[in-house]
Formats: sequence, structure tokens, C-alpha cells
Amino acid sequence: MTAETSLPVQVVNTMEHLDGRHAGYRRAHARGACFVATFTPSGDAAKYTTAAHLAGAPVSATVRFSNGSGNPAMPDTQPGGRGMAVKFALPDGSFTDLIGVNLPRFLVATPEQFLALVRALAADKDAGTGDKVNLQAFLGANPSSIPAFQALGEMGVPASFATTGYQALHAFVWVNADGDRQAVRYRWVPSLGEQNLGPDEIAREEEQFLIGELTSRLADGPVSFTLHATLADPSDPTHDATVVWPSDRPSIEVGTLTVTGEVSDQDHWAAQIFDPTNLTPGIELSDDPLPQLRNAAYSVSYDRRTHGE
Ligand code: HEM
Repeated sequence: MTAETSLPVQVVNTMEHLDGRHAGYRRAHARGACFVATFTPSGDAAKYTTAAHLAGAPVSATVRFSNGSGNPAMPDTQPGGRGMAVKFALPDGSFTDLIGVNLPRFLVATPEQFLALVRALAADKDAGTGDKVNLQAFLGANPSSIPAFQALGEMGVPASFATTGYQALHAFVWVNADGDRQAVRYRWVPSLGEQNLGPDEIAREEEQFLIGELTSRLADGPVSFTLHATLADPSDPTHDATVVWPSDRPSIEVGTLTVTGEVSDQDHWAAQIFDPTNLTPGIELSDDPLPQLRNAAYSVSYDRRTHGE
């Protein structure tokens, strides 16, 4: 298989087919902006992980909030994916990333299913009939994708990037100083609570309001999110992001992210990759196959967007 036909390249090509090719932009989550933040760990994660940012002193972080579409003109007044990508600055000078979306579970479990899904969506777009026959066929063949599509269908329009929760969806494995391993899933909970706009409020908003809304809100003071980690039971699947773990699993509050204002060097930060496989000692990938696909696909997107494509 050549680089041209590798699965991640096929995935990105099909994503471009779906949302259009917008030179210089990410092939997903195209419109976004970066903000300055500080993460203060609670200390509760220290017995599970040696990761410096989760277990030690406060660290600075950069957060990119985004609209999920690969089309940078996609209105914020429509329901859909919203992203929160966090890059923590570690004491040793390196960085580690944690990326979430406003979904409770992912659409697929495997790279092959993701390619089949984006192909089905592209075929429906090409047909132009609006009957989504290819998506229905995909869901018929992949019923574990149905709950995430139901969640997508129930999404509201967040009033602010600071009034929606974000989940990292994959399981990651924490490793402590004794080498003990604990599978976890992360979620960011907004301290303002979750707030969506009503129909009248949506009608009053500009199409692209979310970045400006957050910037003006921050002029009046910081906003914050608490990071929660759900601790898996050994029986819980870690390879399948379409499956939510039982609700009685214990959860710990890992720390608080305080967002204070826009970064001064937006172009520098816009050009970075926020990559779910960019981890640090004390955190490892699980047996979920999707982060590796994401690592490869994000690199393809990065190469194109930073070479004028
Ligand atoms: C598994 C299949 C997936 C594929 C192929 C995929 C693909 C992509 C691509 C190509 C980008 C643009 C990367 C760049 O140019 O820097 C991107 C960005 C992003 N993706 Fe995914 N993605 C996948 C799954 C997910 C999942 C499960 C999440 C949620 C946790 C997610 C959240 C995001 C976010 C928030 C961004 C924007 C990151 C930023 O602000 O830089 N993606 N994705």
C-alpha cells in the first residue's frame, strides 16, 4: 500500500470531499481560536498516575475551542460538534495534549468503520437526494454506531464554548509510581453548567458568534472547567469508543482549568497539532485503535494545511 492509498489518506481525502477543501485550514474543526489557561491539579490523581500536569504543581496550557466542521464557514447557530483541545506545558519543557468533543460516545469503534462512515456520508452528499440511504445502510451494518448518531440528533446549540461539556471518548491508561495501571476516560465539566440557546436566541445570534462570545466573556473574568476521570472496572471495554461505561463507575476530580483570554500569537498556535497520542510518562494509550488513526490523519491534515493546501 502506498502513502497515497493508506487508510488515513483515504479518510482525509473523503473528509475533504464532504466538507470541501479549504486551503490552510484543519480538515476537521476548521474554525477555532486559541486561549491562555492554567491547569491546577486537585492532587487526587497522584496515586494513579505520575503525569506531572495531573499530579504535581499547576501548569500553563493552551486551549483551542472549535466548531467541528471541516468547513470554516459552518454556522455556530446550527447544532453539531464543538471541540476543546488542550495542550499542557510540562515542567520539562515538553507538551501533552487532551482533546475532547461535546459527544458522550464516538460514532465508530475502528478505523475501517470510520472510513466506511465518511464514504457513506460522501455518497449521500453526491446523490444530493437528502434521503441518507447510504448512512442508513451503514447504520444497518454497524448498529453500535446508532447511539452516537442519536446523541448527535439531540444536540442543542451551545450558548458559549464555556457552557458545554467535552469528552475525550477514548480510554487511556494511567500508570503510577508502582507501575499499577488504571484505565480512565476524561471529561471536562464547565463551571457555568451546560447552557444551550433557545430558538429566539439562535435567531438573534450572528452565524459565527462563539469565538467573539468567549473573548468578550473573558474580558469580564476567567471561565473554568473541572477535569473528571472515570475509573474503569477491569471488565469494562477500553477498545471501543462507541460504548459508554456503566454510570456507577467511580470518578475523580483531577483538577481545574482556568481560561483567561485569547493567546497573543494566534497564528503560531493555530499552526500546532493537538494530537490524542501526544502523551507523557504516567499516561499510555489503551487498546482503542482510533487514536493511532487520528495521529496519522491529523499529520496528513497538518501537512496539507501548512503547505498552502
Ligand atoms: C477516529 C477518527 C477521527 C478522525 C479521522 C479525525 C480527523 C481529524 C482531523 C483530520 C483533524 C484536523 C487535524 C489538524 O489539522 O490538526 C481533526 C481535528 C480534531 N478532532 Fe478529530 N478525528 C477523529 C476522531 C475524533 C474524536 C474521537 C474526537 C474527540 C475526542 C475528535 C476531536 C477533534 C478535535 C477537537 C479537533 C480539533 C483539534 C484542534 O483544535 O487542533 N476527533 N480530527
